[in-house]
Amino acid sequence: MNQTYRPVFLVTGGAGFIGANFVLRMRQNNLAKIINLDKLTYAGNPQTLVSLAEDPEHQLVRGDIGNTELVAHLLDKYQPDAVVNFAAESHVDRSILNPGEFVQTNVVGTLNLLDASRGYWRRLSKDQANRDKCNRFRFLHVSTDEVYGSLGPTDPPFREDTPYAPNSPYAASKASSDHLVRAYYHTYGMPVLTTNCSNNYGPYQFPEKLIPLIILNALQGKPLPVYGDGQNVRDWLYVTDHCDAIALVLEKGKLGETYNIGGINEKTNISVVTTICEILDKLSPKAGLDRKSLITFVKDRLGHDRRYAIDCSKIDRELGWKPKESFETGLQQTVQWYLSNPEWVEAVQSGAYQTWIHQNYGDRK
Ligand SMILES: NC(=O)c1ccc[n+]([C@@H]2O[C@H](COP(=O)([O-])OP(=O)(O)OC[C@H]3O[C@@H](n4cnc5c(N)ncnc54)[C@H](O)[C@@H]3O)[C@@H](O)[C@H]2O)c1
Repeated sequence: MNQTYRPVFLVTGGAGFIGANFVLRMRQNNLAKIINLDKLTYAGNPQTLVSLAEDPEHQLVRGDIGNTELVAHLLDKYQPDAVVNFAAESHVDRSILNPGEFVQTNVVGTLNLLDASRGYWRRLSKDQANRDKCNRFRFLHVSTDEVYGSLGPTDPPFREDTPYAPNSPYAASKASSDHLVRAYYHTYGMPVLTTNCSNNYGPYQFPEKLIPLIILNALQGKPLPVYGDGQNVRDWLYVTDHCDAIALVLEKGKLGETYNIGGINEKTNISVVTTICEILDKLSPKAGLDRKSLITFVKDRLGHDRRYAIDCSKIDRELGWKPKESFETGLQQTVQWYLSNPEWVEAVQSGAYQTWIHQNYGDRK
């Protein structure tokens, strides 16, 4: 990142898991000023950002990326150098129960953000004084490897040119938003970038996702639910590696391109769960309890993709990015983080952070 000029980023979904890690990383290293637009759904937790409470260069705005006036107002007021779009409904199981909400935020919301950003970028281009800002402007869309569908055991990993074949309503909504981003480059020449990443894990992840769910259930001696036969394979990336990749793509990515980001860590779900049990049995032993005995196989998720694997050689070759954490080091740090942050966990599990949102923001959506 260029240290001489400190950019302004409009980050959306920056109170969620990955967005908040990105915001914290940007602010801790003083790399960018952040306007953080987040609807604060159940997945958005301002408590994650508590260390930035006194930081004048981070501002959390509660609002919806689908709100045209609000987004246009924020763009004009703060004149960002980039929009980084993390905002999404992100949980596959929830998308199976309620696909409409996913289309609303992930598709319609992203379209609104693209459209408002295009208007802002065009206004910059017409103003001689803002030429540099206009040339610097980027719209970076954060997406997922789930858009590529499912792989067989011996298929090669997903590449950027793998055809899209989304299988869940979540993946379909993300695929749709990726296509809109692409279309804004080809149709309007907008300076867009897209990243497609594998499963993330690390600090501040909402405990409905596999790794924090297993850590917290195992700590509390509860059953450890594993879908189907546990043989579904995912590639795992430590969240700060993802954040660094996004920062690099923002700085050096070629306009209109997509970059696959992955951890080069393919693991079956059952091996992830047993490794967590082993780490916890060492770091926080409970007399007489072998945590693997808590593993419980449950009815498989509808349409559960069998295997995801990602070929991230393009971002390595073109931009020089590689993940720093191995699965072993990343998982160890993650388990340690959940052990060291019981207040955050308690607030999330009890829903106390929702009370805080209500007190601070009322019921506005
Ligand atoms: N978690 C992963 O493993 C993973 C992997 C690859 C890509 N991604 C993508 O990365 C992005 C972030 O994922 P995450 O795991 O941090 O998700 P998350 O669910 O933890 O956070 C999403 C955030 O978006 C906010 N949000 C939801 N709807 C909104 C709206 N309409 N307007 C404004 N804000 C809204 C939520 O309040 C929340 O803070 C998503 O786009 C997701 O598709 C996630």
